[in-house]
Amino acid sequence: MAPSQTGHSIIPLSLRPFYAAIKMHFFDQIEAFRAFLAATRSAGHVGLVPTMGALHAGHLSLIQAARTDCATVVASVFVNPTQFNNPEDLAKYPRTLEQDLAMLADAGCDAVIAPSVNAMYPTPSRVNIRWNGLDDILEGQFRPGHFSGVSLVVAKLFNLVRPDIAYFGQKDFQQFKIISRLTDELMFDIQLRCVETVREPDGLAMSSRNLRLNPVQRQEAVVFFRALQQARQEILQGRKSIQDIRKLIAGNFSAARGTLLEYLELADRENLTLIDRVEAQTPAILLIAGYVGEVRLIDNLFV
Ligand code: PAF
Repeated sequence: MAPSQTGHSIIPLSLRPFYAAIKMHFFDQIEAFRAFLAATRSAGHVGLVPTMGALHAGHLSLIQAARTDCATVVASVFVNPTQFNNPEDLAKYPRTLEQDLAMLADAGCDAVIAPSVNAMYPTPSRVNIRWNGLDDILEGQFRPGHFSGVSLVVAKLFNLVRPDIAYFGQKDFQQFKIISRLTDELMFDIQLRCVETVREPDGLAMSSRNLRLNPVQRQEAVVFFRALQQARQEILQGRKSIQDIRKLIAGNFSAARGTLLEYLELADRENLTLIDRVEAQTPAILLIAGYVGEVRLIDNLFV
């Protein structure tokens, strides 16, 4: 297949022959991207990996999963402004497009769409998707409007790409649950896959935000994973409620300089209802969020 001829300003001219040689198509124009998809669809399943860039091994595991299942693997790179409740967080979100493209090409991605904000939101959106309960707990409680923005952009990407399968990371488990509901309720004919979180050797969940941690903060950040492990241990021993466990791990956070625990919750893994203890046979999940310095991190562990 011929490399894309979109004509754009983002990839420096010097790098274009590189992407052309390995046949990864890059688009920043929606129309050209649609034409590519129309020509490609008959080859077999199209897999979509939606991202906000600043890619790491976690994203690449999604690409690998898509590569295994699909004839065509598409990634989107778009820092979606409507899902940021904090403008400073949006401004500081790492943007590393050149490096992202090299990683995607290496991982065997076939095409990347990196649209402008104007292309995705030609007019300020009046759509406000609410989830009546699913979005005002956990992340939703601390990031009002976040899941409305995520739902909107994912619906746009689903309509744009019309993938057969879409891939999301387990680290954003509440997001995955909400997108599952979105897919069911809006009747998208798309299968969803939730891919296991990839961790650093010390257990810290891979995240684009880790790039913003200085070396000391990076060391302290492991407190989130350790708290989850300790909490799971307590639950498996059947002794403590989540309230007791929260008190127990509060000490870990006081000892880790510059960290702040926002929440540690236990939930039913199917419907994300918050629970106090795990009943036998109920698949559950521990979810945690907080800060290291100014950087907000989340993580979770199945129980
Ligand atoms: O998980 C993310 O990176 C984003 O929330 C997503 C799904 C790409 C939507 O902007």
